[in-house]
Amino acid sequence: MVDLEGKGFGTKAVHGAGPPDPATGAVVPPISLATTFRQEAVGKHLGYEYARSGNPTRTALETHLSTLEGAGHGFAFASGLAAEDALLRLLSPGDHLLLPDDAYGGTIRLALQVHAPAGLAVDTVDLSDLEAVRAAWTPATRMVWVETPSNPWLRIVDIEGVSAIAHEHGGLVVVDNTFATPALQRPLALGADVVVHSATKYLGGHSDVVGGFVATQDDEHAERIGFLQNAAGAVPGPLDCYLVHRGARTLELRMARHSESALTIAEHLVGHPAVAEVLYPGLTSHPGHEVAVRQMSAFGGMVSIRLAGGEATALEVCRRTELFTLAESLGAVESLIEHPGRMTHASVAGTANEVPGDLVRLSIGIEDVADLQADLDQALA
Ligand SMILES: Cc1ncc(COP(=O)(O)O)c(C=O)c1O
Repeated sequence: MVDLEGKGFGTKAVHGAGPPDPATGAVVPPISLATTFRQEAVGKHLGYEYARSGNPTRTALETHLSTLEGAGHGFAFASGLAAEDALLRLLSPGDHLLLPDDAYGGTIRLALQVHAPAGLAVDTVDLSDLEAVRAAWTPATRMVWVETPSNPWLRIVDIEGVSAIAHEHGGLVVVDNTFATPALQRPLALGADVVVHSATKYLGGHSDVVGGFVATQDDEHAERIGFLQNAAGAVPGPLDCYLVHRGARTLELRMARHSESALTIAEHLVGHPAVAEVLYPGLTSHPGHEVAVRQMSAFGGMVSIRLAGGEATALEVCRRTELFTLAESLGAVESLIEHPGRMTHASVAGTANEVPGDLVRLSIGIEDVADLQADLDQALA
């Protein structure tokens, strides 16, 4: 493999994907479908035994994404939530977890409805307020979960600030880097211990694969996460690994375009009579803007808006867009629109973490921004 030390992110995105296949010279590694691997003698093999424990296509993906996150260890999972589940299994009954009060609904559901019944103590807190984080810390707190920018509020958490507090108390910092991706934000370099992704989003980038990923520099945590990946078995198949691996090569280009268009659209929507509030960390008026400038190289492709006309208008706007497809998920080449309260975050409806009905989330794709703007204008008219 080319020495990538000191090379730029774009070079790492392409060449970090791996060298040509040594057997054939193919510049794209083959999809290895084998579930089992021959052993010359018992225990004597070429590094693979059984495909749940590891397969070459998954290794190629894990090496690639680890390089992009600046991590020594990476683990691919069958979905973002499978990756998150493995991380929560690092904790024991009686341990305390601090979650952002605006975390992705599925993360809150996993913590409160799967891990809390098994003995995990969970509190949600506004992580953008470092004093609140200090106040919420208990002697049993072992992990703080950061999501920045958050889904769908686009709040910004100071990764360095939270990491300093957590490390004072010996706690572990996990950052969900799904929205920013390593193209824009590298949490491990900012002091976090573990990064987690829904690879279903920007890493894959084409709405055709569900996947998850975990990266860390810490050997001890890596050993346990690797153990859990194999022991619980929530692994992605080779074709899924191949698709994420392919998508990640163009990550830098896509994130630059998503970010540029999202900023244009956010600025365009500020002051629109139908829009009560635009939530985008690239706006200087955003409360997390200064921290975002410090820890991100651009502000990403997600924009949320609150409609002056309330929920009925929000639902109508979702129905009316033409280029923005009304669908769950985010982070792909095509623009998507959705209503978190009734769609992606329906699992927290009726709780303190409920998303209000007037909020609409936009995933800005890579289409021509003028066309996207015109589509939103006609939907909002
Ligand atoms: C920020 C964030 N984290 C995690 C997940 C869960 O990932 P997956 O759907 O791949 O399980 C999502 C899914 O929308 C998400 O938006």
